[in-house]
Amino acid sequence: MPEVRLSKEKPLLVDGPASIVLREGTATSLGAPIQIGNSLVIAKYRRIAIETEMNAVFQIRIGEPGSYRQVNGSTIPPSWRDAAEALRHSRGLAVILGDVDSGKSTLCTYLANTCLGHGGQTSIIDGDVGQADIGPPTTTSSSTVTKHIINLQELRPERSYFIGDTSPSSTPDKLVQSITHLRDKISTGSGIIILNTDGWVREDEAVEHKRQLLDSLRPDLVLALSLDHELDHILELLNRPTLPLEASSFALTRTREERKKAREEGYRRFLKNPKHMDLRLNTIKLRMFNAPQQQRLDQITPYRGTITGLLDENGELLSIGRIERIGNGIVRITTSTEETPRTVELGAVVLSTRFDEI
Ligand SMILES: Nc1ncnc2c1ncn2[C@@H]1O[C@H](COP(=O)(O)OP(=O)(O)OP(=O)(O)O)[C@@H](O)[C@H]1O
Ligand SMILES: [Mg+2]
Repeated sequence: MPEVRLSKEKPLLVDGPASIVLREGTATSLGAPIQIGNSLVIAKYRRIAIETEMNAVFQIRIGEPGSYRQVNGSTIPPSWRDAAEALRHSRGLAVILGDVDSGKSTLCTYLANTCLGHGGQTSIIDGDVGQADIGPPTTTSSSTVTKHIINLQELRPERSYFIGDTSPSSTPDKLVQSITHLRDKISTGSGIIILNTDGWVREDEAVEHKRQLLDSLRPDLVLALSLDHELDHILELLNRPTLPLEASSFALTRTREERKKAREEGYRRFLKNPKHMDLRLNTIKLRMFNAPQQQRLDQITPYRGTITGLLDENGELLSIGRIERIGNGIVRITTSTEETPRTVELGAVVLSTRFDEI
């Protein structure tokens, strides 16, 4: 297995699939310390950067099409360090804005690590329904940060809402409402909340949506990760404290197909050991994700494969599921939860039996 020696000036960049083990010295990834002997797994289409203050020796195992290299200087832009400092000072809610692949989730992870242990609670709200990190795609979630993390996926969703689509543009108002609810339910006192958002920022409707979101939340800090003035329309007229941040030149871009694969991994993570659940239609509300007032579906068609949100009496998500069939007064759903929902919402995504998007 190849060994790599790191120095302060020569961080390591690893593209998954790969696994690495720290053998000697000390190292961090996005502000999270790495333990000697523990194996760190980097998934396909993911990249991590490892830095050391002194020196470190890593053993690296790479799978196809992964790779690794050493780069000159930190991959964390200086403006990200300033943002962490500003957030530890301002506290309250920080909203991360940025285009797809601009490094939003990475910045969110870095901020979580660098705010941890500075007094008060640190929470993350994942408002990116397409490339969701904390919950499955089509949902929004919140979680408390209790330890250092290399990846947001290590966080367990504590409260989630079902949006129903991977695109924020189908139900932008529902998205604003769910994120505002998540924020309102976090009781932090003097704590810090970091909201990660989707990369829908360029079209007129996207600008309008982001403005509504910021209007509803009134954040203490807006962190604008931009490459080329693409956030200017959202930020103009915004009367909230704003920090422009540079997107890292090490951010990895992904193709449509790679993003789809990442979403499918996301569904599978939350549909482990699935079972069939049969629910009598006269004991639950069954409605479409984009028609919340609806009490009944007008027309019962098979809906086979449709993603569903199983909701409790407060409208919070118990689990996602996949419709097997609707008929004879019964809906059969494949899901991991054993809790009985009050409401079943049908989403816009259709999944195969392996939970691939069709
Ligand atoms: N500062 C950085 N150093 C090293 N790698 C980075 C950095 N910023 C981003 N990356 C890598 O680039 C990729 C894209 O970053 P990230 O997932 O954070 O972007 P995103 O804006 O959240 O994307 P999406 O729109 O898909 O949610 C990731 O694999 C990440 O590890
Ligand atoms: Mg992301």
